[in-house]
Amino acid sequence: MSIQFSEDNSTPITSSARLQEDRAEPSLRPKTILEYIGQEKAKENLQVFIDAAKLRNEPLDHVLLHGPPGLGKTTLAGIIANEMHVNMRITSGPAIEKPGDLVALLTNLSEGDILFVDEIHRLNRAYEEILYPAMEDFAIDIILGKGPSASSIHLDLPHFTLIGATTRSGQLTAPLRDRFGVTIRLELYTPDELKQIVERSADLLNVKIDSYGSYEIASRSRGTPRIANRYLRRVRDFAQVRADGMITREVADAALLSLDVDRCGLDAIDRRMLRSIIEFYGGGPVGLDTLAATINEDAVTLEDVYEPYLLQSGFLTRTPRGRCVTRKAYEHLGLSFQKSEQLEF
Ligand code: ADE
Repeated sequence: MSIQFSEDNSTPITSSARLQEDRAEPSLRPKTILEYIGQEKAKENLQVFIDAAKLRNEPLDHVLLHGPPGLGKTTLAGIIANEMHVNMRITSGPAIEKPGDLVALLTNLSEGDILFVDEIHRLNRAYEEILYPAMEDFAIDIILGKGPSASSIHLDLPHFTLIGATTRSGQLTAPLRDRFGVTIRLELYTPDELKQIVERSADLLNVKIDSYGSYEIASRSRGTPRIANRYLRRVRDFAQVRADGMITREVADAALLSLDVDRCGLDAIDRRMLRSIIEFYGGGPVGLDTLAATINEDAVTLEDVYEPYLLQSGFLTRTPRGRCVTRKAYEHLGLSFQKSEQLEF
């Protein structure tokens, strides 16, 4: 079995993590809510909050965006900034290495600005305390010195909006989570929504594609626009080299099979995960950490990147005692289904 690797040579190109080769991604990003395809509930609510904030001439309340990687959290933050006509500063939890980094970011904001903190669950817990008064009272207290001679200075901040993005909202502390007035959960996209995204991107990239070709890419992209756009670029290469440049269903199918993406959109790691549960654990249940050790993958990656689609598409179930595969997984892998008494479905 071969796994295609990205240009950084460590992450499979089927991953929803952001890769080197996604550097063209910003040009494909929609800039307005109207251009943004899918996430209807999230868009509807956001439009109301944006319109209301504009009517009151106030900054938008702090927003927490959560959901699996690659669904458009950064894109949505950019759209909010654009619709509110304000600037956005972008950082991430792990990039904030010392309290001074966060203080510098906050004190450099202008009235109404958006501070976007990606992977906010990875922000050092000790620095979260700086955010509490910043989010609530638009002020920070800086402690100078140590011990009895320590003093503090109070700094007022401009009224800003914090947009936090996370793949794991369960890992946020309750005090931080409670300070977001708006919480939006992004869901995996349907094949029809992804088809529209593929067609929009093909148009922007000047790629010729027919309706069957776009559906083929969409239905194999694991509900994730970042994956759909990456496959579009790879399939375009096949179309240019092996066909007449036009992406049809046949071209997309052959290209995706070459990339080891099967007809249900599963990649080598998805299949290895399902096969291991069947071969080593009788179909499950098996704990996530045990499974991760068995297939030599990171447990967080399995949970955040691989599980959402396997669960949504009915290959996997989660029970209190661990993960189980379904009859559909056996059938997909061409294995005969043996219902063990452990299976709970
Ligand atoms: N490109 C990536 N995500 C998109 C979306 N939701 N709508 C339109 N284009 C996109």
